[in-house]
Amino acid sequence: MLKQISDIVLEAGCIVKEGFYSAKNINHKGEVDLVTDFDIRTENFLKEKLQKVFPSFTIIGEETSAEGSYPAENVIFIDPIDGTTNFVHGVPFVAVSVGVITDSETKYGVVYNPILDELYSAETGKGAFCNGSPLKVSDNASLINSLVATGFPYKKDNLPYLMKVLEEVLKSTQGIRRAGAASLDLCYTAKGIYDLYYETRLQPWDMAGGIIIVREAGGIVTKLDGRYHDMDDDSLIASNGLIHKEFLNILNEIK
Ligand code: IPD
Ligand code: CA
Ligand code: CA
Repeated sequence: MLKQISDIVLEAGCIVKEGFYSAKNINHKGEVDLVTDFDIRTENFLKEKLQKVFPSFTIIGEETSAEGSYPAENVIFIDPIDGTTNFVHGVPFVAVSVGVITDSETKYGVVYNPILDELYSAETGKGAFCNGSPLKVSDNASLINSLVATGFPYKKDNLPYLMKVLEEVLKSTQGIRRAGAASLDLCYTAKGIYDLYYETRLQPWDMAGGIIIVREAGGIVTKLDGRYHDMDDDSLIASNGLIHKEFLNILNEIK
């Protein structure tokens, strides 16, 4: 099944790659939240193909599904282009992300960056891989030696809290990155490039593909209060596990 999903995502990646190098129609969903014709095309392609493989599943795509509450099981979350702002500006940090959730847990996750040609995938209990090579989180055990990634929501209503966290994280780590695609931030954590990634106000399609990849690479993913992240929360911390507690302590002091 993972191979079938990966093949579909690879094909979808061809559409994204074509769009990356060509002119696009850009529309605004919000003041700074963009969508292009290639987001829609890629999403329609994925929905059609995945529905054939999973006929009884509900498929939720960022651009074409109604907002609201989503089923907790037998659901597939699609982000046709994670990193749309990067896509529009020509930053090659973009991905197609698909997460297949069975009984409230993600069973399969596939994230593909078609520009760098990196295919990340994982199935529960079977490990995580990038282009066929096994992924493993870093073994860095101290926050001050850690590279930490984050992202910022389009809606800027919790900025004071985010800036305070940013300030404390800057003081306590080797550095912060904001690359602009949550799914890839999760994959880079799985790969041991980032030691930890945190973000607030994410949508299920940003997270569903990547969370299982982190866990299958030996990492942990929790809510901001340290409890297990089971897709019911829009904020998360993903890490190698070794620096998680130290990071949670920082957040606890801010509250
Ligand atoms: C966004 C990216 C970004 C994150 C935002 C997401 P989009 O997704 O993942 O890194 O910081 O919160 O909304 O809009 O490019 O699919
Ligand atoms: Ca996204
Ligand atoms: Ca998107």
